[in-house]
Amino acid sequence: MGTGFLPDGVLSGVMNELINVPGDFAEVGVFQGALFKRIVAVAQVLHRKAHAFDSFVGMDEPTAMDAGKYPKGDLSSGGKENFRRTILNSIRQHREVSLDADQQAGVATDAIHDDVFSLWDGYVPECLEKCPVENFAFIYIDLDHHDPTQQAIEWAWPRLVEGGLLGFDDYFPGRQKLASPPIDAFLDREHANLKLLHFDNNQIFIRKQLEQFQQDVA
Ligand SMILES: C[S@@+](CC[C@H](N)C(=O)[O-])C[C@H]1O[C@@H](n2cnc3c(N)ncnc32)[C@H](O)[C@@H]1O
Repeated sequence: MGTGFLPDGVLSGVMNELINVPGDFAEVGVFQGALFKRIVAVAQVLHRKAHAFDSFVGMDEPTAMDAGKYPKGDLSSGGKENFRRTILNSIRQHREVSLDADQQAGVATDAIHDDVFSLWDGYVPECLEKCPVENFAFIYIDLDHHDPTQQAIEWAWPRLVEGGLLGFDDYFPGRQKLASPPIDAFLDREHANLKLLHFDNNQIFIRKQLEQFQQDVA
Protein backbone atom coordinates (compact mmCIF):
# COMPACT_ATOMS: atom_id res chain seq x y z
CA MET A 1 0.00 0.00 0.00
CA GLY A 2 1.32 3.43 -0.91
CA THR A 3 3.58 5.03 1.65
CA GLY A 4 1.98 8.37 1.10
CA PHE A 5 0.87 11.16 -1.10
CA LEU A 6 3.54 12.42 -3.48
CA PRO A 7 3.97 16.04 -2.34
CA ASP A 8 3.16 18.72 -4.92
CA GLY A 9 6.67 20.18 -4.59
CA VAL A 10 8.23 16.82 -5.49
CA LEU A 11 5.88 16.24 -8.43
CA SER A 12 6.39 19.71 -9.90
CA GLY A 13 10.18 19.47 -9.38
CA VAL A 14 10.21 16.13 -11.21
CA MET A 15 7.88 17.28 -13.98
CA ASN A 16 9.94 20.43 -14.45
CA GLU A 17 12.80 18.17 -15.57
CA LEU A 18 10.64 17.01 -18.50
CA ILE A 19 10.04 20.27 -20.32
CA ASN A 20 12.58 19.39 -23.02
CA VAL A 21 12.14 15.60 -22.92
CA PRO A 22 9.72 14.35 -25.58
CA GLY A 23 7.13 11.66 -24.86
CA ASP A 24 3.90 10.86 -23.07
CA PHE A 25 3.32 10.37 -19.33
CA ALA A 26 2.18 7.12 -17.69
CA GLU A 27 1.11 5.93 -14.28
CA VAL A 28 0.89 2.17 -13.76
CA GLY A 29 -1.40 1.50 -10.77
CA VAL A 30 -3.66 4.53 -10.34
CA PHE A 31 -6.28 3.49 -7.70
CA GLN A 32 -8.69 6.45 -7.42
CA GLY A 33 -6.55 8.89 -9.36
CA ALA A 34 -5.05 11.00 -6.56
CA LEU A 35 -1.78 11.26 -8.50
CA PHE A 36 -3.16 10.71 -11.99
CA LYS A 37 -5.35 13.84 -11.75
CA ARG A 38 -2.21 15.87 -11.17
CA ILE A 39 -0.32 14.11 -13.97
CA VAL A 40 -3.20 14.96 -16.33
CA ALA A 41 -3.00 18.63 -15.35
CA VAL A 42 0.77 18.75 -16.04
CA ALA A 43 0.31 16.81 -19.31
CA GLN A 44 -2.07 19.52 -20.49
CA VAL A 45 0.42 22.26 -19.69
CA LEU A 46 3.31 20.44 -21.41
CA HIS A 47 1.14 19.30 -24.38
CA ARG A 48 1.50 15.57 -23.72
CA LYS A 49 -0.91 12.67 -23.26
CA ALA A 50 -1.34 10.97 -19.88
CA HIS A 51 -1.94 7.20 -19.78
CA ALA A 52 -3.42 5.32 -16.81
CA PHE A 53 -2.82 1.56 -16.56
CA ASP A 54 -4.78 -0.50 -14.06
CA SER A 55 -7.20 -3.38 -13.72
CA PHE A 56 -9.58 -0.73 -12.30
CA VAL A 57 -11.00 -3.64 -10.26
CA GLY A 58 -8.12 -3.78 -7.80
CA MET A 59 -5.29 -6.15 -7.02
CA ASP A 60 -4.70 -9.51 -8.71
CA GLU A 61 -4.13 -12.65 -6.61
CA PRO A 62 -1.03 -12.20 -4.37
CA THR A 63 1.85 -14.66 -4.75
CA ALA A 64 4.28 -15.99 -2.13
CA MET A 65 6.43 -12.89 -2.84
CA ASP A 66 3.61 -10.70 -1.51
CA ALA A 67 3.48 -12.42 1.89
CA GLY A 68 -0.31 -12.51 1.86
CA LYS A 69 -0.65 -8.75 1.43
CA TYR A 70 -3.39 -7.07 -0.57
CA PRO A 71 -5.91 -9.74 -1.56
CA LYS A 72 -7.52 -9.90 -4.97
CA GLY A 73 -9.95 -7.01 -5.48
CA ASP A 74 -8.36 -4.79 -2.84
CA LEU A 75 -7.81 -1.14 -3.90
CA SER A 76 -10.48 -1.22 -6.59
CA SER A 77 -11.47 2.08 -8.18
CA GLY A 78 -14.93 0.66 -9.00
CA GLY A 79 -14.23 0.03 -12.69
CA LYS A 80 -12.76 1.92 -15.61
CA GLU A 81 -15.82 4.09 -16.29
CA ASN A 82 -16.00 5.11 -12.66
CA PHE A 83 -12.34 6.11 -12.81
CA ARG A 84 -12.97 8.03 -16.06
CA ARG A 85 -15.76 10.01 -14.33
CA THR A 86 -13.40 10.88 -11.46
CA ILE A 87 -10.79 12.24 -13.86
CA LEU A 88 -13.36 14.09 -15.98
CA ASN A 89 -14.77 15.71 -12.83
CA SER A 90 -11.28 16.84 -11.91
CA ILE A 91 -10.77 18.26 -15.42
CA ARG A 92 -14.17 20.00 -15.18
CA GLN A 93 -13.15 21.62 -11.90
CA HIS A 94 -9.91 22.91 -13.47
CA ARG A 95 -11.91 24.13 -16.44
CA GLU A 96 -14.39 26.04 -14.27
CA VAL A 97 -11.54 27.69 -12.40
CA SER A 98 -9.82 28.71 -15.63
CA LEU A 99 -13.11 29.85 -17.24
CA ASP A 100 -13.78 32.08 -14.22
CA ALA A 101 -10.25 33.45 -14.33
CA ASP A 102 -10.42 33.98 -18.10
CA GLN A 103 -13.77 35.73 -17.87
CA GLN A 104 -12.48 38.03 -15.19
CA ALA A 105 -9.32 38.70 -17.20
CA GLY A 106 -11.28 38.99 -20.48
CA VAL A 107 -9.04 36.53 -22.35
CA ALA A 108 -9.75 33.49 -24.55
CA THR A 109 -9.91 30.19 -22.72
CA ASP A 110 -7.39 27.39 -23.17
CA ALA A 111 -8.89 24.96 -20.68
CA ILE A 112 -7.95 21.32 -20.06
CA HIS A 113 -9.25 19.05 -22.84
CA ASP A 114 -10.88 15.68 -22.15
CA ASP A 115 -8.67 13.89 -24.69
CA VAL A 116 -5.52 14.62 -22.70
CA PHE A 117 -5.78 11.18 -21.05
CA SER A 118 -6.28 7.50 -22.00
CA LEU A 119 -7.21 4.55 -19.80
CA TRP A 120 -5.80 1.07 -20.40
CA ASP A 121 -7.55 -1.67 -18.43
CA GLY A 122 -6.68 -5.24 -17.48
CA TYR A 123 -4.22 -6.93 -15.18
CA VAL A 124 -0.53 -6.33 -15.87
CA PRO A 125 0.84 -7.13 -18.45
CA GLU A 126 -2.42 -7.16 -20.47
CA CYS A 127 -3.20 -3.46 -19.88
CA LEU A 128 0.36 -2.49 -20.83
CA GLU A 129 0.31 -4.50 -24.03
CA LYS A 130 -2.89 -2.77 -25.18
CA CYS A 131 -1.17 0.62 -25.45
CA PRO A 132 0.58 1.31 -28.79
CA VAL A 133 2.65 4.27 -27.52
CA GLU A 134 6.39 3.58 -27.76
CA ASN A 135 7.92 6.76 -26.27
CA PHE A 136 7.34 7.93 -22.72
CA ALA A 137 9.03 10.81 -20.92
CA PHE A 138 7.62 9.85 -17.51
CA ILE A 139 6.48 6.53 -16.06
CA TYR A 140 5.42 6.03 -12.43
CA ILE A 141 4.90 2.47 -11.16
CA ASP A 142 2.79 1.91 -8.04
CA LEU A 143 1.39 -1.63 -8.08
CA ASP A 144 2.37 -2.92 -4.61
CA HIS A 145 2.68 -6.56 -5.71
CA HIS A 146 5.99 -8.15 -6.71
CA ASP A 147 5.23 -9.85 -10.04
CA PRO A 148 3.36 -7.03 -11.81
CA THR A 149 6.03 -4.55 -10.63
CA GLN A 150 8.66 -6.71 -12.32
CA GLN A 151 6.60 -6.98 -15.51
CA ALA A 152 5.91 -3.23 -15.52
CA ILE A 153 9.63 -2.45 -15.20
CA GLU A 154 10.46 -4.72 -18.16
CA TRP A 155 7.74 -2.96 -20.18
CA ALA A 156 8.71 0.56 -19.09
CA TRP A 157 12.49 0.69 -19.46
CA PRO A 158 12.76 0.21 -23.26
CA ARG A 159 9.87 2.66 -23.78
CA LEU A 160 11.38 5.39 -21.64
CA VAL A 161 13.22 7.92 -23.82
CA GLU A 162 16.76 9.04 -23.10
CA GLY A 163 16.46 11.67 -20.34
CA GLY A 164 13.03 10.35 -19.30
CA LEU A 165 12.08 9.74 -15.67
CA LEU A 166 10.99 6.49 -14.02
CA GLY A 167 9.43 6.63 -10.55
CA PHE A 168 8.32 4.08 -7.98
CA ASP A 169 6.26 4.20 -4.83
CA ASP A 170 6.87 1.74 -1.96
CA TYR A 171 10.59 1.25 -2.51
CA PHE A 172 12.24 -0.19 0.60
CA PRO A 173 15.82 -1.10 -0.39
CA GLY A 174 16.71 -4.67 0.57
CA ARG A 175 13.17 -5.68 1.51
CA GLN A 176 12.49 -9.24 0.44
CA LYS A 177 8.84 -8.98 -0.55
CA LEU A 178 6.27 -6.96 -2.48
CA ALA A 179 7.50 -4.31 -4.96
CA SER A 180 11.03 -3.78 -3.65
CA PRO A 181 12.97 -6.86 -4.93
CA PRO A 182 12.31 -6.18 -8.64
CA ILE A 183 13.17 -2.48 -8.12
CA ASP A 184 16.43 -3.47 -6.37
CA ALA A 185 17.29 -5.90 -9.18
CA PHE A 186 16.53 -3.28 -11.83
CA LEU A 187 18.65 -0.56 -10.14
CA ASP A 188 21.48 -3.05 -9.75
CA ARG A 189 21.33 -4.12 -13.38
CA GLU A 190 20.99 -0.64 -14.89
CA HIS A 191 23.00 1.45 -12.43
CA ALA A 192 25.38 2.64 -15.17
CA ASN A 193 22.47 3.88 -17.25
CA LEU A 194 20.63 6.03 -14.75
CA LYS A 195 20.96 8.98 -12.41
CA LEU A 196 19.17 9.27 -9.08
CA LEU A 197 16.93 12.32 -9.08
CA HIS A 198 14.94 11.92 -5.86
CA PHE A 199 14.59 9.39 -3.04
CA ASP A 200 12.46 10.23 -0.04
CA ASN A 201 9.44 8.76 1.76
CA ASN A 202 10.03 5.47 -0.11
CA GLN A 203 9.38 7.21 -3.41
CA ILE A 204 12.23 7.14 -5.90
CA PHE A 205 12.76 8.83 -9.27
CA ILE A 206 15.61 8.04 -11.63
CA ARG A 207 16.59 9.56 -14.96
CA LYS A 208 17.46 7.32 -17.89
CA GLN A 209 20.91 8.29 -19.00
CA LEU A 210 22.52 5.58 -21.08
CA GLU A 211 26.23 5.00 -20.44
CA GLN A 212 26.99 5.57 -24.12
CA PHE A 213 25.23 8.95 -23.99
CA GLN A 214 27.04 9.99 -20.79
CA GLN A 215 30.39 9.32 -22.51
CA ASP A 216 29.32 11.26 -25.60
CA VAL A 217 28.43 14.39 -23.64
CA ALA A 218 31.40 14.16 -21.22
C1 LIG B 1 -1.44 1.60 -4.27
S1 LIG B 1 -2.62 1.67 -5.51
C2 LIG B 1 -2.05 2.98 -6.55
C3 LIG B 1 -2.17 4.36 -5.90
C4 LIG B 1 -1.98 5.49 -6.87
N1 LIG B 1 -0.69 5.44 -7.53
C5 LIG B 1 -2.15 6.84 -6.19
O1 LIG B 1 -1.18 7.60 -6.13
O2 LIG B 1 -3.25 7.12 -5.70
C6 LIG B 1 -2.28 0.24 -6.45
C7 LIG B 1 -3.08 0.15 -7.76
O3 LIG B 1 -2.48 -0.86 -8.55
C8 LIG B 1 -3.48 -1.63 -9.20
N2 LIG B 1 -2.91 -2.96 -9.43
C9 LIG B 1 -2.23 -3.72 -8.54
N3 LIG B 1 -1.86 -4.90 -9.09
C10 LIG B 1 -2.30 -4.86 -10.38
C11 LIG B 1 -2.20 -5.77 -11.46
N4 LIG B 1 -1.59 -6.98 -11.33
N5 LIG B 1 -2.72 -5.41 -12.66
C12 LIG B 1 -3.34 -4.20 -12.79
N6 LIG B 1 -3.49 -3.31 -11.80
C13 LIG B 1 -2.96 -3.63 -10.60
C14 LIG B 1 -4.65 -1.63 -8.22
O4 LIG B 1 -5.86 -1.86 -8.90
C15 LIG B 1 -4.55 -0.24 -7.59
O5 LIG B 1 -5.37 0.66 -8.30
